[in-house]
Amino acid sequence: MSGVFSRWAIPAASRGLGQQLRKLYFHLFSFRRDILARLNVLEDAFAALATPPPDHSAALNCQAVRQRVVESIFATAPIRCVIETGTYTGTSTAFFAKFGVPVHSCELSPALFYVAHQRLAVHENVHLYLADSRAMLRELARQVAGEFCFFYLDAHWYADLPLGDEIRIIQEHWHDFIAMIDDFEVPGDPGYGYDRYGRRRLNYDYIADLITPSGLDVRFPCVPSSEETGARRGYVFLSAGMGALALADNQLLTAYKATDGSSRGRRGLKHRRAIGTA
Ligand SMILES: C[S@@+](CC[C@H](N)C(=O)[O-])C[C@H]1O[C@@H](n2cnc3c(N)ncnc32)[C@H](O)[C@@H]1O
Repeated sequence: MSGVFSRWAIPAASRGLGQQLRKLYFHLFSFRRDILARLNVLEDAFAALATPPPDHSAALNCQAVRQRVVESIFATAPIRCVIETGTYTGTSTAFFAKFGVPVHSCELSPALFYVAHQRLAVHENVHLYLADSRAMLRELARQVAGEFCFFYLDAHWYADLPLGDEIRIIQEHWHDFIAMIDDFEVPGDPGYGYDRYGRRRLNYDYIADLITPSGLDVRFPCVPSSEETGARRGYVFLSAGMGALALADNQLLTAYKATDGSSRGRRGLKHRRAIGTA
């Protein structure tokens, strides 16, 4: 009897089919997610055109405590430049513009870019780019890598997640920086929302391998999510050089200390325990 009809060939074939169907399912799922995200973008772009210029209370996902955290940083640290990835309709960009330093922000969607451009026209210190975040960061590395910069990494939206590359580019080119990542899991506080991309989650384990051996300072909010307002999205601060010095005494943040690199799981647990021991 030919191999195709043997006792073992059919289960093996159906296993292969199962794997292919699973792959197709994941492909269709992320495709559907992308299409829905793009439709939402168009709706938001039209809605934003009809509303007045951004109100600061709506910045950073309408989170009043997070706005206070950022204001406290700008009040003490000599930050020379803000770089945002993912402009959307420019609400947080306008919030950053009030600190008076140059603000660079990029957006992949032409519809959102033009809306933000119109809404932010009054801010002379805002520079918008219709570009992929990686391309903008590489370009700015040529211009302002020597300056103490504040990054707001918020371009995670579609199936393509640029965050890993963004962190690599920043670490490679900047010595003094503070980077705030949005939609990030806050260990020990499930009330803060965060993003998941298939099996990947935006959490410490996701960035642990990206952090260079020399290390970055990693800090999370210490104000509980129950005291936050707005969308209550989680966030994390990565910093180096003058950035790490500036955050060291910030009472609204708490350090996440690496105590053991032996295994991801154990390291994650230890890090969780370290929360609250800034
Ligand atoms: C969560 S929204 C940004 C919200 C905005 N930062 C704010 O606080 O109002 C994410 C934005 O990133 C954009 N985006 C997604 N991938 C991108 C990429 N690779 N480069 C630049 N922008 C991107 C999306 O089109 C979307 O407008």
